[in-house]
Amino acid sequence: MLARVRSAAVLGVDAYPVDVEVDLSNGLPSLATVGLPQSAVKEGRERVHAAILNAGFQFPLKRITVNLAPADRPKAGSGFDLAIALGILVASGQVPRDRLADSLVLAEIGLEGDLRPVRGALAVALCARNAGIRRLLLPSANAPEAALVEGLDVHGAGSLAEVCGFLSGRNELLLAHPNGGAAPEDRPEGAPDFSEVRSQAAAKRALEIAAAGGHNVLMIGPPGAGKTMLARRLPGILPDMSLEEALEATRIHSVAGTLSSGQALIGARPFRAPHHSVSDAGMIGGGGWPRPGEVSLSHAGVLFLDEVPEFRRNVLESLRQPLEDGVVTLSRAAMTLSFPARFMLVGAMNPCPCGHFGDPVRPCRCEPGLVDRYRARISGPLLDRIDIHLTVPAVPVGDLSGNGAVAEGSAAIKARVGAARKIQEERFRGQPGVYGNAHMLPRDVRRHCQLAQSAELLLRQAIAKLGLSARAYTRVLKLARTIADLACESEIAPAHVSEAIQYRVLDRLRLPAPVG
Ligand SMILES: Nc1ncnc2c1ncn2[C@@H]1O[C@H](COP(=O)(O)OP(=O)(O)OP(=O)(O)O)[C@@H](O)[C@H]1O
Ligand SMILES: [Mg+2]
Repeated sequence: MLARVRSAAVLGVDAYPVDVEVDLSNGLPSLATVGLPQSAVKEGRERVHAAILNAGFQFPLKRITVNLAPADRPKAGSGFDLAIALGILVASGQVPRDRLADSLVLAEIGLEGDLRPVRGALAVALCARNAGIRRLLLPSANAPEAALVEGLDVHGAGSLAEVCGFLSGRNELLLAHPNGGAAPEDRPEGAPDFSEVRSQAAAKRALEIAAAGGHNVLMIGPPGAGKTMLARRLPGILPDMSLEEALEATRIHSVAGTLSSGQALIGARPFRAPHHSVSDAGMIGGGGWPRPGEVSLSHAGVLFLDEVPEFRRNVLESLRQPLEDGVVTLSRAAMTLSFPARFMLVGAMNPCPCGHFGDPVRPCRCEPGLVDRYRARISGPLLDRIDIHLTVPAVPVGDLSGNGAVAEGSAAIKARVGAARKIQEERFRGQPGVYGNAHMLPRDVRRHCQLAQSAELLLRQAIAKLGLSARAYTRVLKLARTIADLACESEIAPAHVSEAIQYRVLDRLRLPAPVG
């Protein structure tokens, strides 16, 4: 009267095997779940009870004990429902156990016996394969993502009755293929394109440099200048994701539950734009049962913060560690978890609270001192991690409506970015953690950013004249390296340095000259 069904629990972006043991014994009819089940697991027994009856089976009038082993790790989520239901049906002799022996099952069950999607199917599939299990039974909606894992038969099912039919040999379940999503190289239909942005040549150039070297960007401009519009087009000029990156991003979105139903692989680089009211747990991840935050959901893509000064100070400060390390580490009493978090940060802000500081037409209405206080909300250490400060002036209405020549499209820019990235790949081969010029450590800067005498002189003069702060120095060197790479030149020329200096607006001890 004992059954054992294999399942798995998700922790962070990984999963570990869990055995669901069901024992039926004589006594007053009851159902108890042990093995540190959290509330969603405990509630599962009500769903399982209804589902078994509605699928046309008998619910045994016995004393039922469900144990989730290993018993000392807490288990959360509704993914054990199917395993518990099958355990009860096998233990009471209503379903044969042979086919279950080499299968891992995971699904939430509805009251009618329908199978509902769960989080983390990709992580569970990896875990099943590593445990040497041959077959995975899942809700149909999760099957494509799980099928990305090779060496495992993934079957999607719609209901408890279908699964029982399969185990009894009455019907077969379709083998899933990872065809639901786009291949990494596919560009999604209707993605925003740079050709839709009129004028703004300087801003486009700066974003091209940012994409080429992986530099973080802060855009400063009046309302309606097109900052949000520009930022949304950045993922489209980044190089295509490698399969490895795509799998990693998919795993994160799979445990966060943000994959669309039936989607296999994330094909396009993520673009995340959290609202400025986001909490620090929402930003870096957290909760009692830690989930990935925005920094991890934008892994391999772009994290866009619109109206940066409006974000809570502690939320902005919490970005410093992931920006530095490319991972976030969350410590809880029971566990320490790491989530990947390598993203490009793009911020946007107005030059002052009213938005018109420096506007040649509309005067700024802010009180003196307010502008400085507004800008000071972005702390020095955070600003230190942003290589490009970009002023985005408003485009005159005439330029927006005219039928001028169509601007260059994202594909052409992406090709140049790709060429510059190739150079960096060669440069940083065998250096883990360095993916582009933006990630260079001080010793890399000394080695790869040697300046000729004329360029060195120019940089020193600029620092003295513009009142650039000391931290600007290495930033300018890294940027100049990327600009030289875009020009396919091995030596950094004075022209590259002088362009790089333009992107350090906020480092100037005096406020920037009016825009316009
Ligand atoms: N260069 C441009 N080419 C074409 N359309 C533009 C351009 N700049 C702005 N627009 C139009 O103006 C609208 C507003 O732009 P957007 O929302 O990007 O401004 P913003 O700088 O983010 O403003 P805010 O500071 O208010 O957030 C866009 O949806 C777009 O239609
Ligand atoms: Mg905006």
